[in-house]
Amino acid sequence: MSAVTPISARPRSRLRRLATPFVAPPVFDFWAQRLHPTWTWERPLARIVGHAPAAAGAVTLTLKPNRHWVGALPGQHVNLGADIDGVRVTRSYSLDAPASADGRITITVKGIEGGRMSRHLLDPARVGDVLDIGPGFGDMTLAAAAVATPRLLLAGGSGITPLMALVRQLAGQGMPAPVTLLYWARTRAEFCFADELRSLAARHTTFDVRFVLTGDAPAADDEAGGRIDAELLASRVPDLATRHVDACGPGGFVAAAQGLLDGRVAALRTEAFTPPPRPPVDDTGTVSVRLARSGRELQLPRGIALLDALEAAGEKPRSGCRMGICNTCACGKSAGTARDLRTGAVQGEPTQALKLCINSAVSDLVLDL
Ligand SMILES: Cc1cc2nc3c(=O)[nH]c(=O)nc-3n(C[C@H](O)[C@H](O)[C@H](O)COP(=O)(O)OP(=O)(O)OC[C@H]3O[C@@H](n4cnc5c(N)ncnc54)[C@H](O)[C@@H]3O)c2cc1C
Ligand code: FES
Repeated sequence: MSAVTPISARPRSRLRRLATPFVAPPVFDFWAQRLHPTWTWERPLARIVGHAPAAAGAVTLTLKPNRHWVGALPGQHVNLGADIDGVRVTRSYSLDAPASADGRITITVKGIEGGRMSRHLLDPARVGDVLDIGPGFGDMTLAAAAVATPRLLLAGGSGITPLMALVRQLAGQGMPAPVTLLYWARTRAEFCFADELRSLAARHTTFDVRFVLTGDAPAADDEAGGRIDAELLASRVPDLATRHVDACGPGGFVAAAQGLLDGRVAALRTEAFTPPPRPPVDDTGTVSVRLARSGRELQLPRGIALLDALEAAGEKPRSGCRMGICNTCACGKSAGTARDLRTGAVQGEPTQALKLCINSAVSDLVLDL
């Protein structure tokens, strides 16, 4: 995981210095937030300072994090949390550009049918609202020496966001090596950043963009049609074997890119926004799950992710990506057997870090919740 340098080492606020050590952090936060919505003792928060349409069913939010946020690199994502109908919901979103000099960041969110967080960010969320924000994480970043590497970027739908951050970072450095971006969407109206990408391609001879449609028929010179396949990749990128490839999008798209390119390119990095198809699990019935801290005893179904099962039972465990990458949901398991839903492997040893989003219960469990 790439390290992030704090956006600034600002001096402690006068208010905070005066309050130390007379109040507890939550009390400090309560009163400080009456003076300013993102003033807190140590809790990282970000205020929405811009909310603009990005494409059909997608918005770009500009966020101004407070001094406690440690920052994120282009290509990384952050966990954002909001109270939606009285429940704290957390999801991961990628920065779509390098952070600005004054510490503002932008994310672009595609609305998902029935989706809690994406629908909230698309509409009820307003300029002035405050979100919890976690540190940047993820490895799809560019080391300083890597800007001169020939690249192929493959984006499926909202998977464009971290790749757009890399394109903008490379454009800021004059696009020193060949970069090809192939960007898939169902319809033309769903492409984000289309004007900017076209103008970058016009300005930099080393940058090539192709908008690939799976629903609409291609009409412009820089459009193509069809799903990701070997023929399209070979026709657009004759020197494919020399390229460093970054692929991002839904789990199925990323799995297809991996199947076509693994071992055939100079390097391949992938990031899925949704879990890949999981092997079927025939664990049925329920088990007894004891939550050691709260003392609650629950009957939870086997065969589904513990995170989903706990939420359905009214618990609110911490979560982020919901697919095993951010570690936010990890909690201790002192007894019982769980199954990794990605691999089917069972694990019966006590552990400090059972990821609730990708494990289901096999037997009765004791969790450190
Ligand atoms: C590392 C990472 C980075 C991400 N970056 C971005 C980003 O920059 N922009 C962005 O828009 N999204 C991004 N996502 C996806 C985002 O975290 C949420 O999953 C998405 O916004 C849906 O959340 P929700 O609460 O609206 O849907 P939920 O209420 O969680 O789910 C509702 C339904 O939609 C399905 N679903 C969930 N996510 C998706 C999806 N992405 N595509 C299709 N169906 C889905 C669920 O399986 C469920 O059936 C990223 C995810 C990860 C893991
Ligand atoms: S929520 Fe990210 S690992 Fe479980």
